[in-house]
Amino acid sequence: MIVTSVAVPEPLQPDFEDEPTREFEKSLRPPDFEEFCGQTKVKERLMLMVEAAKQRDDALDHVLLCGPPGLGKTTLAHILCRGFGTDIHVTSGPQIEKAGDLAGILTNVGHGDFLFIDEIHRLHPAIEEYLYPAMEDFKLDIIIDSGPSARSISLSLPKFTLIGATTKAGMLTRPLLSRFGITNRLDYYSPEELVIIIKRSASLLNVPIEDDGALEIGARSRGTPRIANGLLRWVRDYAQVRADNIITKKVAVEALAMLDIDEDGLDEMDKRILEAVVFKYGGGPVGINSIAVAVGEDEATINEVYEPYLILKGFLKRTPRGRSALPPAYRKLGINPPERQNNEQEELF
Ligand SMILES: Nc1ncnc2c1ncn2[C@@H]1O[C@H](COP(=O)(O)OP(=O)(O)OP(=O)(O)O)[C@@H](O)[C@H]1O
Ligand SMILES: [Mg+2]
Repeated sequence: MIVTSVAVPEPLQPDFEDEPTREFEKSLRPPDFEEFCGQTKVKERLMLMVEAAKQRDDALDHVLLCGPPGLGKTTLAHILCRGFGTDIHVTSGPQIEKAGDLAGILTNVGHGDFLFIDEIHRLHPAIEEYLYPAMEDFKLDIIIDSGPSARSISLSLPKFTLIGATTKAGMLTRPLLSRFGITNRLDYYSPEELVIIIKRSASLLNVPIEDDGALEIGARSRGTPRIANGLLRWVRDYAQVRADNIITKKVAVEALAMLDIDEDGLDEMDKRILEAVVFKYGGGPVGINSIAVAVGEDEATINEVYEPYLILKGFLKRTPRGRSALPPAYRKLGINPPERQNNEQEELF
């Protein structure tokens, strides 16, 4: 059962996620490890932890899940909780503003329940201090009121499991990191793994899809299941209106061309970023803040959403002095890379 504690409002969602999109995502969420495709190492580790905890009839150890948006952190948190049949209490770092908020949540947590803190890197440092004894000794010592009426109260908590999710593990403080046993880092999915996810989603949506149609969508999904499902939703609409409902390779290519997504999965913003680095800043190195200004996008979004994929695909590289374009970036923009760049590329591989 999902419990959103009374003390906290609904979990924060990215702005672009409206209600129907969220419902759509939920409906495609794999309910158990078996249906959760990919991330083999993380999955194996978590399954082992679950089995061990169950054998001991104990609560699961605290779990940290990190990785770029849309790779399955929230999904895994729900799968873990479902495996134990206990409740999951959902909140996020920025929503816990005061110690009282944390106390409100923790006093509602039952034995073996899960507390899922999304965006845990955005927890206020003062709240983190309260969290440590709660994680280690299942105790919460808080001070209520201020001035002469200030009192310290100590609460004994039931044994619970904290699941922290973050897109920025690097921003987590050392003490918090050390309180999680292991760090589970999710990686981008291969096109083949995405094909399995897309075919599963298509069958849930009752849309016939051919293998090469699924591969076409998978190859353009930036290694991300959320994007794959979003593109599938679009291609389904296209197939319904412009074709005979079946998603073939041809239908997928036509539908995705309408969204200006190219064969590498790059969209308009990716191309604007590459153009800025190559044309405006002579191939770099250039700081991420200058890129953000040049393309009119928020720096954090470029950092978390666009840049990792451009780096993964070998279009950009990160240097101590900023981001530089690599030869594939020049070719993507239809120009020849400078000589210096070609040599650098050879050194890289
Ligand atoms: N391994 C997987 N197999 C099948 N579907 C998946 C998998 N991982 C993610 N999905 C799908 O992708 C969607 C996004 O996943 P999820 O919300 O868990 O991502 P997230 O890592 O929590 O993202 P964010 O950082 O934005 O919170 C879900 O609706 C789910 O259906
Ligand atoms: Mg999430």
